[in-house]
Amino acid sequence: MPKIDVVTVDGPAGAGKSVATRRLAERLGIEYLNTGAMYRAIALCALRENVDLTDADALTKIACERRLESRNGRVSLDDEDVSDAVRSPEVSQSVKYPAGAPSVRAILVEKQREIGLSRPIATEGRDQGTVVFPDALCKFYLTASPEERARRRFGEHERRGETVDFDELLRQIVERDRQDSEREIGPLKRPEDAVLIDSDGKTIDEVVAEMERIVREKRRAAGL
Ligand code: DC
Repeated sequence: MPKIDVVTVDGPAGAGKSVATRRLAERLGIEYLNTGAMYRAIALCALRENVDLTDADALTKIACERRLESRNGRVSLDDEDVSDAVRSPEVSQSVKYPAGAPSVRAILVEKQREIGLSRPIATEGRDQGTVVFPDALCKFYLTASPEERARRRFGEHERRGETVDFDELLRQIVERDRQDSEREIGPLKRPEDAVLIDSDGKTIDEVVAEMERIVREKRRAAGL
């Protein structure tokens, strides 16, 4: 299968995928795609309009009929930039519904593929190397231990002056891993041909430098 000029970064929640993929894209001069934000935008729309989150047909209608776009790392819904709004705790709690609806996934996978076929991208999610871009030139699986991921989340809350319980954060992370891995369609799974990067004990700069070196090597070998 001919390879397409796409870098995929999959992995569990809190492994540092967003920061690493965004910086990697910047260093390579290509576009960053945050596919989690697309699922989040569907959840946001449903919450705003009091749509029943367990109604997969209603969520599918949103995915079909609303203008959902992603450009330069920003996601917009009917031309409103919702990149920040989709990070709210309410959306985080509700995103499992659109992410678990096969017909919503089919629509978003198609959109993601269209984007990747139109321009070089570094894309981040759970199923990018397995389902969306099996033919990507370079695939990564970025992970870290649940404890390390919980420590990072704890630090983020502390910096915002918020008090949270570490054990509760750890429990949420383990629970999200389970939900993401047990989903029937597009589950979180390490692509067989992905480079595994364990970010435990590494700085973000070290992680990005390692990824950049690998992508540049693969692109050179492919004559790109
Ligand atoms: O990476 P994130 O936390 O923004 O992802 C939000 C949710 O969407 C998370 O529950 C996993 C899901 N997701 C998915 O199922 N497939 C993707 N490609 C990206 C995210």
